[in-house]
Amino acid sequence: MEVKKKILVTGGAGYIGSHAAVELLKAGYQPILIDDFSKSDSTLLLGVEKIVGEKLPFYKGDCAKREFLESVFQIEGLISGVIHFAAFKSVGESVQRPLIYYHNNISSLITLLDVMKDFQVKNLIFSSSCTVYGQPDQIPVKEDAPFKRAESPYGATKQMCERILEDSYSSYKVISLRYFNPIGAHPSGLIGELPLGVPNNLVPFITQTAVGKRDKLTVFGNDYNTPDGSCLRDYIHVVDLAQAHVKALEFLNQSKPANSFEAFNIGTGVGVSVLELIYTFEQITGVKLNYSIGPRRAGDVEKTYADATKANYQLKWKAGFSTSEALLHAWNWEKKLAGK
Ligand code: WQD
Repeated sequence: MEVKKKILVTGGAGYIGSHAAVELLKAGYQPILIDDFSKSDSTLLLGVEKIVGEKLPFYKGDCAKREFLESVFQIEGLISGVIHFAAFKSVGESVQRPLIYYHNNISSLITLLDVMKDFQVKNLIFSSSCTVYGQPDQIPVKEDAPFKRAESPYGATKQMCERILEDSYSSYKVISLRYFNPIGAHPSGLIGELPLGVPNNLVPFITQTAVGKRDKLTVFGNDYNTPDGSCLRDYIHVVDLAQAHVKALEFLNQSKPANSFEAFNIGTGVGVSVLELIYTFEQITGVKLNYSIGPRRAGDVEKTYADATKANYQLKWKAGFSTSEALLHAWNWEKKLAGK
């Protein structure tokens, strides 16, 4: 029986990491999960186990701690590649606590790169973000769009991490996946988004309001230069996003150059407004949302959505789920969390 290629998944107990673990296993890889539970707990690990029917190797620890990472590489032996999700990702929190973002997001990447080099592991997929572009001059935004000054320390850490990877690519084969707005949950309803405390992001705030956990949703501004005045974003189903990581691994395994750095936009290519998302949610669930229009949120870009043709052609990846399906899956997950 062919030995499965081991893929180290840092942040494997998180929203995107857990969905990626499921898709990796389905594609015949052996995910090895790492998480320090600073922004997660074992909930999603248990959900992954139920979906795949087996317990995945898991190590609790901080990727910024070299000894911890070295121990994982020593125990696991030959590792075919690494997918690095582990990072803090709240735009708002990063403004309040910039140093913990720079320390955690930058140190964990540099430590990981050092240990990968010691163990001759070259393949790396980095979890990046469309926030690296800031407010693009042209949309849909292409990978060669300039990096505007980041609107938040979070976005700045993603820009810096990409620069570190570009400057050190001679020892690695790197793909940077620039996520647009991940939403939704696994169709099984066994894993999904688990925001700690008050959600920063729109969709978990919508579902928590709909389930009665929040009184009201505030739409942050409807005076933007968009069709209905609310901001435009590219909302991509988390399972589509997870599958993009499998395609990226296949691309790395086939790609010729010994060392490389390639970035890909991972989005649907369609811009959806905040109000459109709310209306769609109400349509498909039959739940009337209690929301009001409030002031703009500092740091928000007016509109951004992906030109994903590079990923479509080179990674042979394309988003499959619709916004409606993503919202329905997110709603199913929220109802499960509420015990409904
Ligand atoms: C979306 C829209 C808000 C909450 C996120 C992540 C970032 C990156 C990109 C991965 C905006 C509006 C929100 C609310 C609202 N993802 N909104 N009321 O800011 O695009 O960034 O995706 O790397 O990490 O933060 O997503 O969901 O916060 O906001 O009106 O209560 O919804 O103004 O227009 P954002 P978001």
